[in-house]
Amino acid sequence: MFGDDYPRFAELSALSEFTQDGSNRRPDRRSELEQRNRMNERYEALFASNRDIFDGARVLDLASHDGRYSFAALKTGAAHVTGVEARKSLIDNAQEAFAFYGQPPETYRFVCGDLFEVLAREKFDVDVVLCLGFLYHTYRHTELMYRLHHVAPRHLIVDTMVTHQTQPTLKLIREKNVEDLRSAAADPYSVGRVLVLRPSLPSLELLLQSYGFDVESNYDWQGRLAGRPPLPGLAIYAHGGRVSVRCRFQGQRTTTGPPAQTGPPAQTGPPAQKGPAAQTAPPSRPARGWRERLNSVLASTTGYQLRRVHSRR
Ligand SMILES: C[S@@+](CC[C@H](N)C(=O)[O-])C[C@H]1O[C@@H](n2cnc3c(N)ncnc32)[C@H](O)[C@@H]1O
Repeated sequence: MFGDDYPRFAELSALSEFTQDGSNRRPDRRSELEQRNRMNERYEALFASNRDIFDGARVLDLASHDGRYSFAALKTGAAHVTGVEARKSLIDNAQEAFAFYGQPPETYRFVCGDLFEVLAREKFDVDVVLCLGFLYHTYRHTELMYRLHHVAPRHLIVDTMVTHQTQPTLKLIREKNVEDLRSAAADPYSVGRVLVLRPSLPSLELLLQSYGFDVESNYDWQGRLAGRPPLPGLAIYAHGGRVSVRCRFQGQRTTTGPPAQTGPPAQTGPPAQKGPAAQTAPPSRPARGWRERLNSVLASTTGYQLRRVHSRR
């Protein structure tokens, strides 16, 4: 089983539970054994049951945490994985564990950063996107789906908590503890507590369909866990509070790359020019002449552009 075969991830995670002054940063933390059990079960649901899509695949793992599921993708046959994670300490753990298991460096890459910024500035040519444990740590679902639509992977695997609502609703929740390494990273648009939206299953399906992703399967967690003693971190799957769905992209895949880096149309996009997230974003398009270059800088910093005025005096 995956978690038992590769215990280094759980070991490193247990070691980094404590801050330098010795206080525990995750009072509700899972023990190493619980983590391994959870990894075993999630591996079956997310990877073993989807083996056909990982063979030789290039994979993008969003919110990759300490890389355990990026590694799982490689062990299921993926040729390359890129993990995107906001917290540097988790990327360090991932690098350490990958090196510990002798994973060839050319088969993986980790990008440390806010995944919204990374998706906006980088072009990804991948077959499978993993969005595991993230959709309930954000309220920017349409932005995420817009980016994924333009990444246009063949498959998308989403693992998320869902509410029990039967309508397509999103429940507004205050993130419990942003210090927790599993929670939303510091949010550029929050003041104090971070707000997130948890989807219901119908809203998850609507969201996916609206951006060209058809749900191919919804893993039968109830069947897998039936009759077994409750396992920490897994009980939520057993009662339908968390789902793992596999989707196929129905839109057009292009090899030249969609305009993911360019962002949504300027008139309808978010206030990217003013928000903290946008400050590090590079100009979206290569400009041609001095006027375009100047306008590109002006647009990204002020939201305004120069226009030629023909005055007749
Ligand atoms: C619940 S964990 C999920 C980890 C892993 N994907 C899994 O399924 O076990 C959520 C992860 O998302 C990361 N995260 C939260 N907000 C992020 C953001 N805006 N950009 C990148 N990573 C983020 C957190 O640091 C954390 O590692």
